[in-house]
Amino acid sequence: MTEPLILGIESSCDETGVGIVRGTELLANVLASSVDEQARFGGVVPEVASRAHVEAIIPTLERATREAGVSLSDVDAIAVTSGPGLVGSLLVGVTTAKALSVALGVPVYGVNHLAAHVVVDELQHGALPDPVMGLLVSGGHSSLIAVRDGVRDVDLIGQTLDDAAGEAFDKVARVLDLPFPGGPSIDDLAQHGDPEAIAFPRALQRDPQHEFDFSFSGLKTAVVRWLTDQHKAGNAVKRADVAASFQEAVADVLTRKAVLACQREGIAHLVLGGGVAANSRLRAMAEARCSAAGIELRVPRPGLCTDNGAMVAALGSHLVRHGVSPSPVNFPTTSALDVRTIVMTEGS
Ligand code: KG4
Ligand code: ZN
Repeated sequence: MTEPLILGIESSCDETGVGIVRGTELLANVLASSVDEQARFGGVVPEVASRAHVEAIIPTLERATREAGVSLSDVDAIAVTSGPGLVGSLLVGVTTAKALSVALGVPVYGVNHLAAHVVVDELQHGALPDPVMGLLVSGGHSSLIAVRDGVRDVDLIGQTLDDAAGEAFDKVARVLDLPFPGGPSIDDLAQHGDPEAIAFPRALQRDPQHEFDFSFSGLKTAVVRWLTDQHKAGNAVKRADVAASFQEAVADVLTRKAVLACQREGIAHLVLGGGVAANSRLRAMAEARCSAAGIELRVPRPGLCTDNGAMVAALGSHLVRHGVSPSPVNFPTTSALDVRTIVMTEGS
């Protein structure tokens, strides 16, 4: 018997994503992004994002079914991000998913975006180990989550207290006059810089209350202050050194805490997710530190790390395979959805 065909819809931030999977096989992963429209604002403007989703959702859906060589009537279940995210953006995906569910007479799963970032790895590396730790780092989140019991039990181990890691990359890129999104620009420039040139601060290293939490706004301020001081002193600034030293501080804190969290929770597998997981220094440092600590690292390819529809379809497919009940069709979108809510149920 062939496995069910799952359609996944993602619209929590500025990417409209539609993915189609069968089991853990990826059939289509189509993306429309409003990043070019956002670039002139230097960040994501919620109203711009919601309008872009409305325009992109149907064409993206059509491209995905065409790419997968299936028709909508072949779909067995639908999964959609119900949170966390921008509420106006989430609503576009959720409304579309509910309409399709009713029209096609198939179940709908309102799912958690963060759990989807971890489960997407099944599309590339097969069934997830259980338990597994997820380090999710993007423009919207920086979280460490422990995933157990076939993704039925998700626990928040740590998160950022202020800016997300990607947000820090974007803000520092702006002060260095680099284009948005800042992550890739800093990553490229850092190749030519010295990561030890400037000792930028590593926050929350010795705070027992926040052992696994992150804070990046002080780091951003330290970069701004350093640049101002150099300017005042009339010193020439080597931007590549600033980029490399900033990137080193971010990668250092993220990987150190991720490894510590695995050790503390007794978890031997770490999955990276989110746009910042594309960062070359973060990947290299995670590999080195995980291998030294005997932790197996799984990093999905960049197109699966950044927000996409396939990750939502992958989580939907996982839930269907594990016999989890679908959501009631009136489930809400929840912009601050708790990480422990993996799928929306009656009353969630
Ligand atoms: O997951 P994502 O595509 O969207 C969400 O924010 O949810 O992540 C986008 C973020 C942006 O802040 C971008 O600057 C960052 O990921 N990013 C990177 C790299 N590529 C993208 N950060 C560091 N290094 C990169 N190579
Ligand atoms: Zn994300």
